[in-house]
Amino acid sequence: MSKSTPPLTAPASIIVIFGAAGDLTKRKLIPALFNLASQGLLSSKVAMVGVDRIKMDSETYRQSLSQDIESYVGDGFKQAAWDANIDKAYYMSGDFCDAKSYQQLKSFLQQVDQEQGTPGNYLFYLATPPSFFGVIATELSKAGLTNETADQWRRIIIEKPFGRDLQSAKELNATLHQSFAEHQIYRIDHYLGKETVQNIMAYRFGNGTVEATWNHRYIDHVQITVAESLGVEDRASYYEEAGALRDMVANHLLAVMSVVAMEPPNSFEADAIRDEQIKVLKAIPALSAEQVSTDTIRGQYAEGSKENGEMLSAYRNEPGIAADSNTETFVAMKLMIDSWRWAGVPFYLRTGKRMPERYSEVVIQYKTGPNLMFHDDQEQRKDMIPNNLVIRIQPNEGISMDFNAKVPGIGLNISQVSMGFDYNDYFTRSTSSSGYETLIYDCLCGDVTLFKHASNIEVCWQLLQPILDAWQSQTPSDIANYSACSWGPKEAEELLARDGFSWKKS
Ligand code: BG6
Repeated sequence: MSKSTPPLTAPASIIVIFGAAGDLTKRKLIPALFNLASQGLLSSKVAMVGVDRIKMDSETYRQSLSQDIESYVGDGFKQAAWDANIDKAYYMSGDFCDAKSYQQLKSFLQQVDQEQGTPGNYLFYLATPPSFFGVIATELSKAGLTNETADQWRRIIIEKPFGRDLQSAKELNATLHQSFAEHQIYRIDHYLGKETVQNIMAYRFGNGTVEATWNHRYIDHVQITVAESLGVEDRASYYEEAGALRDMVANHLLAVMSVVAMEPPNSFEADAIRDEQIKVLKAIPALSAEQVSTDTIRGQYAEGSKENGEMLSAYRNEPGIAADSNTETFVAMKLMIDSWRWAGVPFYLRTGKRMPERYSEVVIQYKTGPNLMFHDDQEQRKDMIPNNLVIRIQPNEGISMDFNAKVPGIGLNISQVSMGFDYNDYFTRSTSSSGYETLIYDCLCGDVTLFKHASNIEVCWQLLQPILDAWQSQTPSDIANYSACSWGPKEAEELLARDGFSWKKS
């Protein structure tokens, strides 16, 4: 987490991106590097080397990056700044599994160090399919590219998904630890880099009144929704293997939940913060097979239509998807936390593709007061709403609180009103941020706070493994149970209705 103000310039180094020709690099990583450079947050001696299987030279790679960059960066794009930085991008074609490529990379990096005056600090960013994570780390080590000295650091960022179950996550951690020490490993979850997710900590721990009521005595339940309007797009092969549980719940939703529920850390040191988040995850009781059938809901989008009548195809008809696929594109679940603070407070998590809107929010629903003064008037009591604190992660980042107020005029009529804080009203930002900017910057500065420790990943899988097991043994005959452009299967509504609640949206 960047704690110093104003921020320092990230040190001279080479960022080596494996998977340089892929979508993540084009859409997120290069724009994030551009945003950092144009805000003056990178040393002028930060270069980038892309590695991928496609054969091309650096010049062709630069041209391919330049093609769509404006649309990926958005409003903050400045052609002059791009032109001033593009010659710091290089490309090397190589086979991720071939030892020779790593020897070649070693000499290539020395050459770039000489050309750009970079001092031998290397950040390896693995934006490849997960099956390559282990082999790349091992080959880097065999080529002698992972050893640090007093003056030169070596770091590795591992993209998600980190493993596909508990066993594979443990194996990957073990493989990485043979080549890198834990302090060199940065397991990324870009949700932890989002402003609003970090602001949950600032809001909770920087405001005495908030923290005083942040517990089971005052809070009824918590909802975390990450809804996407897009479908699977062109990621069929990845998504068919992953599904919404592995793609979203295993990382982004549990990460947000751990920030909402963590105890105040003793300091803003990385370990203090990460330990508190791990404690939350450890306190979530794993679901029994029976609880999996009652407290988790999975779904897959069927054909549906937008409000304007445009038809959206079913997941099973998307390019590259099996016609009988049972991969879930929607998950909702209820989790509890066995802790003093959260005893009896359900946390409801929901995520899905092809929802009517893209939005991510946390809703904290407070308990209602005794409302004694309204006892005699059933009508008035009916109008009283519980206080909902809504933390909007995206879009329209901000925080609002719903409360009851008297309607002006004769009589005591109650109506629901809202107080709100909108980021855009208070802060100006020259560029937009996807979360990757913060995380790449932090990694270059050696700050692991917003990255996941090996044990965090394993605890998440421990929690999800019983769900994966139960789902495998109870595959329903047809999981295509919600129309594209709807809020998911009706069972997800029933999950909350059973407890007397409903999903909220600001
Ligand atoms: C990624 C998932 O990690 O997050 C995608 O793999 C998903 O499936 C994306 O679309 C959502 O990120 P954001 O920042 O757009 O909410």
